[in-house]
Amino acid sequence: MSLVDDAARVRVNAYAPFSNFKVGAAIRSVEGRLHLGVNVENVAYPEGTCAEAGAIAAMIAAGDSRIAEVAVIADSPDPVPPCGGCRQKLAEFADGDVAVTLATTGGATLKTTVADLLPGAFVAGHMANS
Ligand code: THU
Repeated sequence: MSLVDDAARVRVNAYAPFSNFKVGAAIRSVEGRLHLGVNVENVAYPEGTCAEAGAIAAMIAAGDSRIAEVAVIADSPDPVPPCGGCRQKLAEFADGDVAVTLATTGGATLKTTVADLLPGAFVAGHMANS
């Protein structure tokens, strides 16, 4: 089963009653384990969280350290690019060359990388004096 299949399998559990736009995310960690996330919306709209953020939180809670590969899937005409905040979150836990597969439930895929999604990411090294 591919990482896209894993993301598709979890996507159905998304809680998206306000947008009706369910998103699933799957991360394979460098430790080799699978971590899944979905978007979880909230009636106070800005409090919602994206699928990518959920998968990252699951990875950290499980005790794994870094992302080796990511897949994100939604029921969309075209593969949906992660939002700006999720690009920054991915950059925190993945090297720039880590593959990100964006997929649709219709079978389209777009393969990119963390660095292509966020060139010049703000990283901890920028705070060398802190
Ligand atoms: N969403 C994600 O979970 N990931 C993305 O990459 C794009 C957008 C969610 C946030 C919100 O619950 C819904 O999709 C509509 O923006």
